[in-house]
Amino acid sequence: MTALPPKSPCLHENPSWQRVLSEAQRFISDTIHQPAAFNLNQAFAQNPTRLQQFNRSLCDAHGVELLHVDASKSHIDETVWQQLLEVAQQQNIAQWRDAMFNGAAINTSEQRQVMHWLLRTPEAYQAPKHLQASWQAMSATRRTFLDCAETIRNNPAITDIVNIGIGGSDLGAALAVQALRPYVNHHKRYHFVNNIDGHSLHAVLAQVNPKNTLFIVSSKSFGTMETINNARTAIAWFGQQAPQAAIHQHFIAITANAQAAHAIGIDTVFPIWDWVGGRFALWSATGLPVAIAIGAAHFLDMLAGAHGVDTHFLQTDLQDNIPILLGLLQVWESSALGYSSRCIAPYHADLQRLPAYLQQLEMESNGKSTSRYGAALPYHTAPTVWGEPGSTGQHAFFQLLRQGTHTIPVEFLAVRTHQHHWDTHQNLLLSNAIAQAQALMTGNTHTDPQRGMQGNRPSTFIVLPQLTPRNFGALLALYEHRTFVCGAMWNINSFDQWGVEHGKMLAKDIGKRMSSGNTHGLDASTANLLQRLSTPQ
Ligand code: F6P
Repeated sequence: MTALPPKSPCLHENPSWQRVLSEAQRFISDTIHQPAAFNLNQAFAQNPTRLQQFNRSLCDAHGVELLHVDASKSHIDETVWQQLLEVAQQQNIAQWRDAMFNGAAINTSEQRQVMHWLLRTPEAYQAPKHLQASWQAMSATRRTFLDCAETIRNNPAITDIVNIGIGGSDLGAALAVQALRPYVNHHKRYHFVNNIDGHSLHAVLAQVNPKNTLFIVSSKSFGTMETINNARTAIAWFGQQAPQAAIHQHFIAITANAQAAHAIGIDTVFPIWDWVGGRFALWSATGLPVAIAIGAAHFLDMLAGAHGVDTHFLQTDLQDNIPILLGLLQVWESSALGYSSRCIAPYHADLQRLPAYLQQLEMESNGKSTSRYGAALPYHTAPTVWGEPGSTGQHAFFQLLRQGTHTIPVEFLAVRTHQHHWDTHQNLLLSNAIAQAQALMTGNTHTDPQRGMQGNRPSTFIVLPQLTPRNFGALLALYEHRTFVCGAMWNINSFDQWGVEHGKMLAKDIGKRMSSGNTHGLDASTANLLQRLSTPQ
């Protein structure tokens, strides 16, 4: 087993972090009306190289740009940046990164390796000896599920693909099928059933013909209540609607627990492994609906884009490393400046599900208050992540971003080249994105205080050349590694989710009480809700 890095300190034990906290005073004011010493407009005016300092382009092995990040409108300056890099070194960031890429069991609470990056390695990858078995299993499965995807894709008898799964077994695939719309086979429809709410499944089953439908039941554990119940109901419905049809031709499972899939009657199973975290699983057979939709070649392109970012993350000096830049910025904003949320504003309608995807990625990974060694953390970790595509968000919550009492960093995302025919729309869309970031920073002066705004509100801007499978893969890998960097800085295990597990346990208990009506031992409010909502038998 590959060794773990030496024990890292928590941020508050790191002497360099204390210096960062002193610097933070320059950026914070006592009240929202009191200007802070640091002002973005002045920072640009005083420093002609500010743009270069906080701009980075990430290119693939052939020098083609995958994405560009402009963090120059963030509340940061060179002094803070250099101090954060010092903190990162003392938190052993590079060692934790290398440990992940070496197959060390860095998910310490579950004793698991964290190797979603292995799923995106190309066929020519030379796995080190100790990872060869995992690599071979992965590569053989990848070939089989991509062949299967092509067969289904080219089968006109299958008109509807229904993915049944939740969390990581839903969000990435649902996002990708929507985001990569121009590459999608439009002779089929793609449905995603995630919620246990019967309305979700009902709405989909009402639209499909069982004989023309393929159900993909996606669950790493195959123990997730929502997925198992939705799958059982879909199987029963299928049996009633098409008693002659062979279930094995219409149901596929993606899981690390094949036995449980067989137990509910699904024979065809594509494996995933313990070393793939649920929220990092898009790159595995969990991406089957995506591969069917965009085809194997484009799916491999998506993996290649992500692999490009893996290589950048692994090989680039901390100073120029983009996941490091975004990760350190996030830690600075959350834990030093106290900004408790980040708004995601993708200026592309097909990235509708991006905020939801990032909510799981970042909040399930880093929404924690105990270190990986069990110590209580006296600083804030992951922010709340939320958002909505631009320009619709502008007509809803941008008012608060500009004049509200909270400072909320905004992460803009824009795509340079559009894939429709209307240049006017693209120009209007992009000019709005640029102008919103500008307006947040510059503010305005007005004799009427209600119309005036101080500006100095922070944002970052990510630019994709085009929303291709390759760039999209790169973008998601960038987010994954930012999440990793934040976790390593905060000294937490980003790869478990005990808080979620606790909720599942209580729901089981309440589930039993729903039918018995037993409120014994419950607090008054929970008992009241149970009485109001249960139907004792
Ligand atoms: O409950 C949280 C979670 O465990 C996520 O981490 C995971 O992506 C999701 O549930 C679904 O889990 P599974 O793929 O095992 O059904």
